[in-house]
Amino acid sequence: PAAGDDLTPLINSRLSKKIQSLLLLVAQKADKENVKVFAVGGFIRDLLLNIKNHDLDLVVEPAAIPFAEELNKMLGGRLTSHEKFGTASIVLPEGIHIDLVTSRQEFYARPAALPEVEQSSLKNDLFRRDFTINTLACSLNSPGFGKLIDLFNGIGDLEKGLIRVLYNLSFVEDPLRVLRAIRFEQRFGFRLEETTLSLMENAAQTRVLEKVSKERLHDELVLALQEEKAPEILIRYFTLNIAPMIFPGIRLSDALQERLFAAREMCYWANRNWPDTEVVPGNLYLAALLLEAPFQEARHICRRLRLPQKQREPILAAVEAVPRLKEKLLANALKPSELYRLFSGQPVETLLLLQADSKQSRIWESTALYWEKLRHIQPHISGHDLRELGFKPGPGFQEVLSHIRAARLNGEVKNREEELAMAKKMLAARERNNA
Ligand code: CTP
Repeated sequence: PAAGDDLTPLINSRLSKKIQSLLLLVAQKADKENVKVFAVGGFIRDLLLNIKNHDLDLVVEPAAIPFAEELNKMLGGRLTSHEKFGTASIVLPEGIHIDLVTSRQEFYARPAALPEVEQSSLKNDLFRRDFTINTLACSLNSPGFGKLIDLFNGIGDLEKGLIRVLYNLSFVEDPLRVLRAIRFEQRFGFRLEETTLSLMENAAQTRVLEKVSKERLHDELVLALQEEKAPEILIRYFTLNIAPMIFPGIRLSDALQERLFAAREMCYWANRNWPDTEVVPGNLYLAALLLEAPFQEARHICRRLRLPQKQREPILAAVEAVPRLKEKLLANALKPSELYRLFSGQPVETLLLLQADSKQSRIWESTALYWEKLRHIQPHISGHDLRELGFKPGPGFQEVLSHIRAARLNGEVKNREEELAMAKKMLAARERNNA
C-alpha cells in the first residue's frame, strides 16, 4: 500500500469483527462530535504486517479527553484520563485497550523527562514518535475513512524492514527507545538503519539509559521478556553494550547464550508436557542470566530492576539452588526419596533452569520424575490413622509420616496395610525408647 490508499479492504479482511465494529463506532462518533480522529502507530503497522494487535491507538484533534468520555458512553468500558497530558484510555471487557491522545507537540523539558504537552497537529504528534514504522496513520472520519497517511516514509521502511528514528536526538530525549528499537528489530526480524544504529551506539557509550527511571526500565524489560525472541533481545543488549546499564556485572558467555536458548526450549517443552504447570518464560530468562553472577549480585540486580517479590522469589530460589542441585545430582545416583528431599519446595523455575543448564540425561530424568510423579505422592495413611492405632499425637507423627512417604517413594511399602504395619513398629519403638 501507499499513502492515500484506502485500507478498508485490509480492515475488513484482517481485523476481527469486534475491532471492525469498534472502528466504525469510533468513526461515527468522531463525525458526530465534529472532531478529527486517526488510528495510528502500532495498530496500523501491525495491520499492514498482518499481525494481531488488540491495542487501538487514536490521535484526536482538537482534544482527546472529551471525545473519550463521549465514546465511552457507548462502549461502557473503564475510562482513565490524564488532564495534564490530554490523554485518555479505555479498557473494554474483552481485553481491548484504546489509547487516545490529543494531537500534540511534545517538548522535552530535559533529557529523559516526561513530555510536556501542547496541542498541535497530527504531523507534530507523529514526528515526536520513536520510529518511522510507528508513524503510520489512518483517517477515520468521512469522507476518507480508511485513508492511509504516511508522512515520514514509514511504508518504505516497513517494506525494507528497517527500524529508523525520525530525528537525531530521539534516543537522547527518550533513551528507553534504545531498548524498544531492539525489541522491534528482533520481533519483526528487521534491521537497524545505519544512522539509527550509530545513534544507539552513541547512546550506549554515553550511558543515557541510566537517566531512565527504574520503573520505566522495568516495564520495558517486562515487554521484552514476553517476546518470542526474548533470548535474542537479551543477547543484543550485550552485543550493543547496553546490558551493563541493565544487568551490571553480568558478561555474555557462550554458556549464557546457550542457557538462554535452552530456557526457551524448556518453556515450550514444559507447555507441551506439563500443561497444568504455569511457566513464566521471563522468569526463566532472568534466572538464566543471573546464574552468571554471584548470589549477592543477583539479588542486587533483582532489586534494581524493581522485580516484585512474587517474581523475585522463584528466580532467586532457582539461582541459589541450581549449582548446588546440579553438583549433587551429578555426583551420585539418588533414590527417589532423596530426590524428593532435594527438590521439595523448589519452584518449577528451578527444575527448568536445571534442565536448561545441563544436557545430562540424569538431570533431565530426575527433574521430570520429581515434577510428574514424586511430588504428588503422599502416604496412604494420615495422623488420624495413627491416633486410631492408639498412639498419642505429637511431633513424632510427622516424622513417622515422612519416613513412610520416603518408603513409599522407594517402593519399600506398597499399600495401606504395609504402611500401617511400618508406622506401628516405628511408634512402638519410639514409645519403648521414651519409657
Ligand atoms: N512511543 C514513543 N516512545 C516511547 C514509547 C512509545 O515514541 N518510548 C510511541 C510509539 O510511536 C508507539 C506509540 O507511542 O507507536 C504507542 O506506544 P506502545 O503502545 O508502547 O507501542 P506499540 O508500537 O503499539 O508497541 P507494541 O506493539 O509493543 O504494543
